[in-house]
Amino acid sequence: MAMQIPFLDLLRQQQEIDTEIKAAVTRVLDSGNFILGREVAAFESEWAAYCGVRACAGVANGTDALTLALIASGAVREGRADEVITTPLTAGYTALAIRNAGGVPVFADIDPRTYTIDPFAIEKAITPRTRAIVPVHLYGQLAAMDEINELAKHYGLIVIEDAAQAHGATLDGARTGSFGQAAAFSFYPTKNLGACGDGGAIVSQDEGLIERVKALRQGGHFASLQGESAGRNSRLDEMQAAILRVKLRHLERWTERRRLIAARYLAELRESELVLPAATAGHVYHLFVVQHHERERIRMQLQSRGVETLIHYPYLLHQQPLFRRPEQHALPVAERVAGKIFSLPLNPQLTDTEVSAVIAALL
Ligand SMILES: Cc1ncc(COP(=O)(O)O)c(C=O)c1O
Repeated sequence: MAMQIPFLDLLRQQQEIDTEIKAAVTRVLDSGNFILGREVAAFESEWAAYCGVRACAGVANGTDALTLALIASGAVREGRADEVITTPLTAGYTALAIRNAGGVPVFADIDPRTYTIDPFAIEKAITPRTRAIVPVHLYGQLAAMDEINELAKHYGLIVIEDAAQAHGATLDGARTGSFGQAAAFSFYPTKNLGACGDGGAIVSQDEGLIERVKALRQGGHFASLQGESAGRNSRLDEMQAAILRVKLRHLERWTERRRLIAARYLAELRESELVLPAATAGHVYHLFVVQHHERERIRMQLQSRGVETLIHYPYLLHQQPLFRRPEQHALPVAERVAGKIFSLPLNPQLTDTEVSAVIAALL
């Protein structure tokens, strides 16, 4: 029987650092402190330092991180149906977060080479109601931040990075999280930095914005306990923060391993029929997404050889009932690639033998 290669086996990561994780969990249990204590505060400082920004607030998940960043930055105001431009090729949570904040997601087409939002398409989607842009650093690759920030400056828009898939991705030496007014991270277990449960964070150079998030994450109360604005209940807990602090110490090593595997795929699949991702500097390869015009045939071939693949994402958001609007234009590039993309296994715990087997199954 062919070797079975799962798309992602999180138990392998856990086993690699089991002793450290269990020590961190025990430390929290022994502290008797479970919500917004020392571990969360320490993780917030460490994550801000890692991203190269001034401040961080931990929250319950990446969706809330994006929602609270949109509210705290003033991008989306209550009851105003403010428009926020984003990409149709992302997790549904990106657009859901915009809706949860009270905004209207407007979708702009993508760049066929990088799969991230196309700045030219953003400009065409701007209306008098547009307040913000949410570029998604999709699959571990930064969106075109220089061009997006230039547009934002010209039109007076706020930029909130959806960095859920790009922990530590860089552009000219600067890390994800430092390019917009704020950035939202998810620590969902499958992410490059993942908790053992849900978690999220907002980072920003603007300490006032992070202070507002810290009020909003617990009911909207500022220190005086006077309700100032309707908040959420969205807190990162001590256990997850302690676990994230352990995993953060391994993140760079894991990212290097991801890059090594990606480099092998890029070199050794060059002669295959697949369209390979652009090999850009700073990419952290959360996912390795390829295209094939006969996607289902190739996925079946891989499956018969024991290789599990997934599709990120099977649906484009502008075509979903929840986000469909009569004003929405067709998005030809996204619509063209949507039927061809699929993701090969790529994670730090994949062995060299498994990588070779994935490659062999494609040649
Ligand atoms: C691009 C993107 N944005 C937002 C999210 C939402 O994060 P969470 O699942 O932690 O709410 C995810 C992950 O699911 C994501 O991949």
